Amino acid sequence: MRILLLGFGNVGRAFCEIVEEKAPLLRDLFGVEGRFVGIATRSRGCVSDPGGIDIGALLKKESSTGRLGPAPSRGGRDAPSAVEMVQEMDYDLLVVCTSTTIQSPEEPKSFICGGLQRGKDVITSNKGPLFLGYREIRDFAAANGALFLFEAAVMGGTPFFSFARHCLTGSEVLSCEGVMNTTSNYILDLMIAGASFDDALLDARRKGYAEADPTFDLEGWDSAVKASIIAQVLMGAPPVPLEDIEVQGINQIKTRLLLEAAHSGGALRLVSRVEKGKDGVAITVRPEVLSPSNPLSRVHGATNGVLFLTDTLGEIFVAGGGIGPRHTAFSLLRDLIEVACSRKGGRGC
Ligand code: HSE
Repeated sequence: MRILLLGFGNVGRAFCEIVEEKAPLLRDLFGVEGRFVGIATRSRGCVSDPGGIDIGALLKKESSTGRLGPAPSRGGRDAPSAVEMVQEMDYDLLVVCTSTTIQSPEEPKSFICGGLQRGKDVITSNKGPLFLGYREIRDFAAANGALFLFEAAVMGGTPFFSFARHCLTGSEVLSCEGVMNTTSNYILDLMIAGASFDDALLDARRKGYAEADPTFDLEGWDSAVKASIIAQVLMGAPPVPLEDIEVQGINQIKTRLLLEAAHSGGALRLVSRVEKGKDGVAITVRPEVLSPSNPLSRVHGATNGVLFLTDTLGEIFVAGGGIGPRHTAFSLLRDLIEVACSRKGGRGC
């Protein structure tokens, strides 16, 4: 499988590592050999090699020169740009893990659609284009006979979309409530342990959990984006502008409230709710005191969790380990395997 990778930040690197680490499993169980034929970055150049890029050598080059390859010249004659690589290179799978930009999702969307238009399968960890309009991309993929998967885009360490696709097939998802923002959850637990809000935020930023603009996490917008994507993917809801979602974050939460909730045996969590009703799908994001019987009250620290309510199985709870690069990279690998199984009829899926 020839892979073109866009984005070589923490997630892109972790993805290269995990593809290398899991090479024997990919080969033996799924009959796949992953080979990176192109890697593109926004500011550190692009590199391609149809025979396969030596990732170890590339990392050494990057650490000594600060670049992966030459900067694209005007018109891209000397070194191709990411767009040209998507449009012109020979590859089987496009992996888009450029940094998430909810405010400017058009660029990753154009990469995704550029690959799909050529009938290439695409997987992504970028939630921006999904929020903008999942159905449009899904239909575009179908029209071009390509697969489009995005397990890594929402709660990277929690099997969510693949779980719903494979394990809830045939069920109707009536509602989803979840702790979907790692930064907020991590901060709430540090505050219970005695940290100030500012110190907890600093720690969350240092650990790489927060968005470039952390108000996006703290005011609940990131949770709203994820909830909207879930509403679109699982319940067929149309995309909605962020300002139409009822959102309240954790930025006004006082430690006293957290301790009171903990003393009652439950917990205060930032909860995103997506509920099917007769007038469509309702989305809310707000801090809620959860009773100890709600499994979301036990979602702690840098983790996420979602409670599905289905028409067949009732409640199903899924939780996982937050959003570290390795978690997100694994979700990309999961999608890679699904693409491989779908294309080659491999075993194990
Ligand atoms: N800032 C986000 C979070 C990153 O804290 O969950 C993953 O979407």
